[in-house]
Amino acid sequence: MSKILIIGGGAMGSAFSIPCLENNNLVTITEPYNKTFIKNLSSKKKFHSSLKLNLPVKLKFTNYSKDIFKKKYDLIVIALSLAGIDFIGKELKDLSVKTPLLVLTKGLKYDKNKKNLLTISDLLKNNYNVTNVSVLKGPCLAKELAKKNKTSVVIANKNIEIAKWIGKLISTKYYLTEFSKDVIGIEISSAIKNIYAMVIGTGQNLNAESDLFQKSVNEMKFLIKYFKGDASTILGLAGIGDLYVSAIGGRNSKMGDFLGKGFTFAAAKRKFMPRDTIEGEQLAREIAPYILRKIDKKKIPLMYHLLKIIIHNKKV
Ligand SMILES: NC(=O)c1ccc[n+]([C@@H]2O[C@H](COP(=O)([O-])OP(=O)(O)OC[C@H]3O[C@@H](n4cnc5c(N)ncnc54)[C@H](O)[C@@H]3O)[C@@H](O)[C@H]2O)c1
Repeated sequence: MSKILIIGGGAMGSAFSIPCLENNNLVTITEPYNKTFIKNLSSKKKFHSSLKLNLPVKLKFTNYSKDIFKKKYDLIVIALSLAGIDFIGKELKDLSVKTPLLVLTKGLKYDKNKKNLLTISDLLKNNYNVTNVSVLKGPCLAKELAKKNKTSVVIANKNIEIAKWIGKLISTKYYLTEFSKDVIGIEISSAIKNIYAMVIGTGQNLNAESDLFQKSVNEMKFLIKYFKGDASTILGLAGIGDLYVSAIGGRNSKMGDFLGKGFTFAAAKRKFMPRDTIEGEQLAREIAPYILRKIDKKKIPLMYHLLKIIIHNKKV
């Protein structure tokens, strides 16, 4: 029995607690930011408003404070959205936490000073001195995991033994884990698939979408290699695995559909998806200063076009 702390009580952090508890770990969850999630998790029935189900009573909730890191845990899981990564980096910076960290967050960050793109694990290491970071990615809709639907994910760490140790801690018969040393490839592909899901969504019919799917895979492979990842990662769970689930459903492909119908991003957002977070859009704005300047647009025409139309609010 291990002690696991989950930081982030949104849909994914909460769903992730379910296999962890099933594997007989002592699981504590904390929420630093969102009042609704704090209310959900601290209530007696633990009804989660995004997942629309009651979380296990065994799940312990604790209020967030920096003191939480003084307690001893075997694994700390970061399940915040990309906007929360700098926050948690700052919190951890001077604490020299030795506990292994597992990051579920998907995304990339643009470092304005170094004019560079950083994966989340590099950002935590370079800017906040946080080491011993593993990442977990792959096709996993939080609502499906929470219902214990069969889900396969990949855990990456250059030290594969650490990834496998985490796998043992968290996997169940419905939550299966694979392992990889290609941390950079896994992080790049799991982030950019949100943009390509939007691209595929613009297709408007299955033939055109399949064409865009195939060309998106080629561009993703190019970008994985460009950032020094392993090109074969595109064929894994964090590559086409995650692209598939995002392209056939979800908010990014839905937005892509509106773009394909001739709406600008701003108009579609206002009219059809005013309350939805579109992760692909957030990532597009984050990485555009790097991608549009540094990478030959002939190598990645779909990505290039999508970034342009989002940044300049133009039609496809
Ligand atoms: N690895 C996986 O298998 C997997 C699966 C699904 C989602 N995800 C990723 O997990 C992350 C969270 O997704 P979710 O569905 O739980 O989202 P959510 O909107 O339900 O929850 C977001 C979480 O981030 C926190 N947050 C948001 N803005 C913040 C800020 N400015 N400062 C601090 N905290 C902030 C919220 O309080 C909440 O805890 C996303 O990056 C998503 O892509 C990973």
